[in-house]
Amino acid sequence: MLRARSRPSLDRPGVARVNGLAESAAARARHRTISIARAMPGADAARFAELVLAARDAWTPAFGAEQWSLGRAFYTHLEEGLDGEYFRGAAASDAEVEARAPGLQAAVIDVAARALGERVVRRAGFCGPGVHVFLPGDPVAERGGVVHFDTEGLTPAQLAARAPAATLVLMLRPALEDGGTTVWDVDYAGRDHATHAELAAPSHTLRYDEAGDAALIDAYRLHQIRPFSGGPRVSATAHLARRPDGAWECWF
Ligand SMILES: [Fe+2]
Repeated sequence: MLRARSRPSLDRPGVARVNGLAESAAARARHRTISIARAMPGADAARFAELVLAARDAWTPAFGAEQWSLGRAFYTHLEEGLDGEYFRGAAASDAEVEARAPGLQAAVIDVAARALGERVVRRAGFCGPGVHVFLPGDPVAERGGVVHFDTEGLTPAQLAARAPAATLVLMLRPALEDGGTTVWDVDYAGRDHATHAELAAPSHTLRYDEAGDAALIDAYRLHQIRPFSGGPRVSATAHLARRPDGAWECWF
């Protein structure tokens, strides 16, 4: 079902809603989080989603099979004490993603670079972009995801300097109802968990109306995947941090 799209607009301070990647790059000067309609042609995103869904035998479970991914996600492995396995399996993970969804990693890196308007390279030793799959009826669909910051993959130096960092969520298959991302006007302050006061701060929900819509979320801003129905919800993800030489490194 096609829904009417909003015109590019400033929905809330700190969040911009734009059409296309050129507008995203332009909006970054004034906005920390950007909701991007048509970041990738919808047919391309839908084709990648079909490939990911057909590769279920290759999915990696996380948190007791509460969620799945094609490719290995650093934050889930870190939180489950499996970071050694993550690094040992990084090359195999990238090979699997490329075998099952050819061209996906390169396409995600290209979208990230154009959304940022800057150069993006793979982070050495880490897995390249991958895909999160959330199934209907699973905890994330029923209750929403954990409220969090995307700081797990940042080095201590990047964290101390508050190096520019972002997460690209490229929706390959949106849920039929909701499944957006809520972003609070709350910055990372060295704690992984939000306080009640922080959760009462102003927030904005980013929508993914169509396959190919995306969000570029400031990694230091508190955020959460909203509950959804009509899944699976399939989203490619690249975590990004700016290096001193100006290039952004990406990982999953
Ligand atoms: Fe996140």
